[in-house]
Amino acid sequence: MKKIVILISGRGSNMQSLLDAKLPCEIVAVISNRADAGGLAIAQARGIATAVVSHRDHPDRAAFDAELAHVIDAYAPDFVVLAGFMRILTTPFVDHYRGKLINIHPSLLPAFAGVHTHERALSEGVKIHGCTVHFVTPTLDGGPIIIQAAVAVLPDDTADSLAARVLCEEHLIYPQVLLWLCEEKVWLSATGSVASRELSHSGSALISPSLD
Ligand code: GRF
Repeated sequence: MKKIVILISGRGSNMQSLLDAKLPCEIVAVISNRADAGGLAIAQARGIATAVVSHRDHPDRAAFDAELAHVIDAYAPDFVVLAGFMRILTTPFVDHYRGKLINIHPSLLPAFAGVHTHERALSEGVKIHGCTVHFVTPTLDGGPIIIQAAVAVLPDDTADSLAARVLCEEHLIYPQVLLWLCEEKVWLSATGSVASRELSHSGSALISPSLD
């Protein structure tokens, strides 16, 4: 059975969606860079090992990433899942987990990489927004895309209402990707693109605003 380590920084709702999905894998640890991350208590209540590696205890990104990798590697995971992990990772760290490191981002990448995605989507006036799960490469939010989910942006949306609708989709697509990874239906190819087998594809369109 594949082993998964989840990295979080906050409330951990995506982590919880992975725990709730009863995936055919073993979630061996949840690691946070913040001791006050709400998701830690959720993981502990499920009997999952937790650890805190605080970025504040390290002089620079390289030292933090080295310690983080040390703690992760003790669990010998097949996949390392970033679920609201709010630290930029160094190239050596990312390269160490090539093909094993995945992230969820609250926008339709490559639009709105970085932070404040919902505010930026509203201020740009896009009519369709969403979320993306991708393999992590050294380029921030730039790795090969595995899946995306789109939602309509509504006329009275605030950043919070839009974030809530996108988050519902995050909770659907992240467990799906983990299932595909565990079943070896999706993987990162030697050339750095996403390879897959046996995935379904629908040609249906999301048009926003709707047609009359
Ligand atoms: C999610 O929107 C995720 O896409 C982003 O940070 C948020 C984390 O939320 N990277 P949670 O901690 O999973 O609830």
